[in-house]
Amino acid sequence: MADSSSRDLRPDLDETINVPEAHAALSSSAGAAGREKSLRENGMEPVTLYLIVISAIIVLAGGAVMGQGGAFFGYNELVKDGYMRGKSPIAEEDPVIPLAALAFLQKEGQKNYSACSGCHQPSGAGQPGSIPPLAGSEWVNGNTEKLLLIMHNGVQGPIEVAGATYSTQMEAIGANFGPKEMAAVMTYIRTSWGNTGDIVTPEMAAVGLDISKQRGGGKTTAEELKKSHDKMLPGAKWAPDLLIDPETWAPVAAEE
Ligand code: HEC
Repeated sequence: MADSSSRDLRPDLDETINVPEAHAALSSSAGAAGREKSLRENGMEPVTLYLIVISAIIVLAGGAVMGQGGAFFGYNELVKDGYMRGKSPIAEEDPVIPLAALAFLQKEGQKNYSACSGCHQPSGAGQPGSIPPLAGSEWVNGNTEKLLLIMHNGVQGPIEVAGATYSTQMEAIGANFGPKEMAAVMTYIRTSWGNTGDIVTPEMAAVGLDISKQRGGGKTTAEELKKSHDKMLPGAKWAPDLLIDPETWAPVAAEE
């Protein structure tokens, strides 16, 4: 080192020594050069400690503000104590999609017609000689009170249907039908297979069930039906495309 001072005037411009290499070589042998910080490429120099400390303080302070205040994500800020979730305005309106009366009753009626189809056939044609047809039957297409009584109480022959006389009997197959099922099956058989009857509403069927109750039990006869029950059941008529609530079976109030 003593003679290096004499060369200080001419720093290492013309020296062939690569300083980092020389230091690296020396660092393995300890000494002052070994304790020096190693040199870095441009842009790769270590960041000053102050910057790290300041950054850490900012991050910690920011976290503390968010964590303590909780105002950014706090659920309690949005939902107060005792808050009850109200119904959405959409749910308050009827969630049920209304259906056209005729199509709805036909569909429901067809389900319950399974109680009849074993005898009267899915086609409504009956069985020649033993079971009268429902297709083209005046008992089905005609006045509804007598039809309801046949279904609810059964019928004792002889009975003339579509030009043929049947002298057997039918049990009270529809005895368990409530007004809805009764209305649906009646509507289904009155509007299927080319039949020309119209809709029987649950309201009408309820009236019919009352009449049946007052009448007392026992099978009907063609004679009795013609004499005392050849009437239409009273009640407001439903147009085929009237909208029905499929849960309550009631007409849906017209919307503006
Ligand atoms: C076990 C067989 C059987 C079942 C099930 C049955 N019926 Fe009948 N139905 C008959 C017979 C037999 C007659 C004719 C009775 C007579 O001779 O008096 C008849 C007559 C009728 C009549 C009057 C005549 C006509 O064809 O229009 C109607 C209406 C009728 N049934 C509707 C129904 C309905 C609706 C159901 C289902 C809810 C039903 N029946 C279930 C056997 C059955």
